[in-house]
Amino acid sequence: MRTVDRHTKEGILCAGIAAPSADNSQPWRFAWHGDDLDLRIDASRSGYGSDTRFVLSDLAAGACLENMIIHARSLGYVADLQPFPQPDDELWVARIRWRHDPEQSPLEPLAGAITQRHTDRRFPWSGPITADAQAHLNAQAQLIPGQRLWWPQTPRERKAALDVIRQAETLRFRSPTLHAELFSSIHFAVGWHSACEEGLAPATLAVEPPLRPVFQMLRRPAMMSMFNRLGAASVLGWRSAWLPIRLSPGLCLLVMSSTTRSDVLAAGRALQRVWLQATLDGLSVQPYAAAGVLGLGFVAVEPAFQRPLSRLGPALHDLCAPGYGLVFLRLGHARSAPRGRSGRRALESFGALQ
Ligand SMILES: Cc1cc2nc3c(=O)[nH]c(=O)nc-3n(C[C@H](O)[C@H](O)[C@H](O)COP(=O)(O)O)c2cc1C
Repeated sequence: MRTVDRHTKEGILCAGIAAPSADNSQPWRFAWHGDDLDLRIDASRSGYGSDTRFVLSDLAAGACLENMIIHARSLGYVADLQPFPQPDDELWVARIRWRHDPEQSPLEPLAGAITQRHTDRRFPWSGPITADAQAHLNAQAQLIPGQRLWWPQTPRERKAALDVIRQAETLRFRSPTLHAELFSSIHFAVGWHSACEEGLAPATLAVEPPLRPVFQMLRRPAMMSMFNRLGAASVLGWRSAWLPIRLSPGLCLLVMSSTTRSDVLAAGRALQRVWLQATLDGLSVQPYAAAGVLGLGFVAVEPAFQRPLSRLGPALHDLCAPGYGLVFLRLGHARSAPRGRSGRRALESFGALQ
């Protein structure tokens, strides 16, 4: 039987780390055992704040897994996947056994989008999102069992979706816990024009130049709290979510059938397939995860914010039941590629080829 050579192994891992992760945390660890690959969650980059119960890390792991499977398939390899092989080892997400299959057709169009895919936070975007494009994206989500996309059908549904996203984004600036988490991932030290290999470079945030000094000041809890007395969190929720979505032609929500970790991992796989297909179709994408992730009720915030947080889950349920709405995707056609893109750490830092 043909084994996986070093070059192929490296290619598989490079495809994996091109996947998206919340706040560009890249919470992946890899270990090869012959032709078997273990994908683990990096304990130093996961499990706290909004990642309680590893929801964000499992989504990133699912996206990473799907990239690796798609890339390997384009080389004629099939993946035998064992999710969560040892339930009492909560960091061990999957073991993948790669098999070369001469029958496997290397035709895998999504593979070509792996390095092209990126997050775009600019607006406005033009339309339309055609019925064909929607059908392509739906088909990709449904290829992963238990996953589907929900699309607002009426102005009332679109407004309700916008409201729940705006409320969640506003909470991220009102709750000191969520505020600290949000700003700790932004690397202001690199300036407004450079990239960084982990976390969010300010250049990727699409903050307008005149607003940058104020935005940067808001990283200080005391400043945020002072400005919040003047309604800053609501303005930021409006600017970061409501306005860009209102000025974009497409919005959909990834819905999973249960909240088990296996289903969250599967949601990450579906998210990635949808995002790669959108990339192939020339669509720009910005995910909004706060409403769905906070709505699951696993994340602890200060008592004062518990009530608005507890309203998010039921509001999403009203929109997309049955199932759990997890990540909204804003879609549209941008005129150009964004100037700032998130970097990645060096492959060796993931425990990669040991
Ligand atoms: C689970 C998950 C949640 C995310 N949530 C958000 C979000 O709420 N808002 C946002 O602007 N980007 C969000 N992102 C995008 C990441 O910040 C982005 O993937 C990361 O910075 C890497 O950049 P890239 O997608 O351009 O490779 C999310 C990504 C993932 C995988």
